[in-house]
Amino acid sequence: MPLRRMHNIEDLRRAARAYLPRLVWDYFEGGAEDEQCLQRNRAAYAAVELLPNYLVDVSAPDTRTTLFGHSWRSCFGIAPMGLQGFARAGADAMLARAAAANGLPFVLSGAGTASVESIRAVAGEHAWFQLYVAKDKAVTRDLLRRACDSGIEVLVLTVDAPVHSKRERDLRNGFVPPPHIRWPLLLEMLRHPSWCLDMLRHGMPRFENWAPYAGAEAGAQAIADYFSQQIPFTQTWQDLAELRQEWPGQLVLKGLLAPADAVRAAAVGVDALILSNHGGRVLDSAPSPLTQLPLVRAAVGVEMPLMIDSGIRRGSDIVKALLQGADFVWIGRPALYGVAAYGQAGAEHAIAILQKELELTLAQIGCMRVSALATNNVLTLM
Ligand SMILES: Cc1cc2nc3c(=O)[nH]c(=O)nc-3n(C[C@H](O)[C@H](O)[C@H](O)COP(=O)(O)O)c2cc1C
Repeated sequence: MPLRRMHNIEDLRRAARAYLPRLVWDYFEGGAEDEQCLQRNRAAYAAVELLPNYLVDVSAPDTRTTLFGHSWRSCFGIAPMGLQGFARAGADAMLARAAAANGLPFVLSGAGTASVESIRAVAGEHAWFQLYVAKDKAVTRDLLRRACDSGIEVLVLTVDAPVHSKRERDLRNGFVPPPHIRWPLLLEMLRHPSWCLDMLRHGMPRFENWAPYAGAEAGAQAIADYFSQQIPFTQTWQDLAELRQEWPGQLVLKGLLAPADAVRAAAVGVDALILSNHGGRVLDSAPSPLTQLPLVRAAVGVEMPLMIDSGIRRGSDIVKALLQGADFVWIGRPALYGVAAYGQAGAEHAIAILQKELELTLAQIGCMRVSALATNNVLTLM
């Protein structure tokens, strides 16, 4: 189906599902345990109504947003996602280019399949880096050095995955280290020849950032084994304080949901927070970040930049997040669907869909600038 026939994120989702073998689709799409958190994320946005104001000039919507002294073309970016290379060879760079071309930030995952140096080279200041702290402190220090040397200004520290989560689709499919993929799934992969050819042509995606530490001869599997020995590392507030001392740039904490944690993070000197439940992939009983947002905003005050992700599928969801107190929003799977199904053009299309819907919603509620959104436009039904 041609890209121009993709009218919303759900269309891209269906196209990605058709392109990818089940093993990979389940890894991207799945959530923890009963996947209730996944549903809760969507339900939280569906429960919010927007109260329109009319007779306002809405002819020129303005979505520009200033964050860390940089003016971004809109108020959303692409969240870090590991193993993107399984969507399509070179997916990390495609997403980074798509974000940069649209004046938006892209966060390279610490479990990404491209090196921080290569992503900084293609996306410039649009590239941020997400760190997974390694058990070996020397490795963490070297990752920080490389990020800094390559020109990364914003480091995102993810704290919501202190242990491996229980994603049962992946367990059933054998898509957990060490991978043990059964025959029926291998046969199913062959029913996705374009994907198979892409992988055969470019080779198995690797955790590129970890390659230098896994040994000179290490291939994709050996690097993955090394990565699983190092991650997850159970961090504490003391580790965060040390990291704050070590990292000279902006430090963003991703994955907090509790107001008390947010207050403590601010006291440690964190520059911004991303409220997130990892897109429903870790604690199945976690609340939606959207419902936590007003509580966290009340706790940290207006100065701390608050960002949010998990469950955003429409431009109107972005408006709802901003109205509840967010300064910026991140999308995960929507961009992944686009890049899996159509490469960089698909990722750009996902951005364009959300941007268009965002502008449409702003006009429909009678607000011209995202920076002028006021909470009196929101009606929450719980
Ligand atoms: C396939 C996949 C891999 C992910 N990998 C990471 C990761 O490596 N680091 C991280 O901080 N978050 C990771 N996340 C979470 C995203 O950064 C983001 O929080 C989440 O996708 C937002 O929810 P959404 O997909 O509903 O938009 C991952 C999400 C997905 C779907």
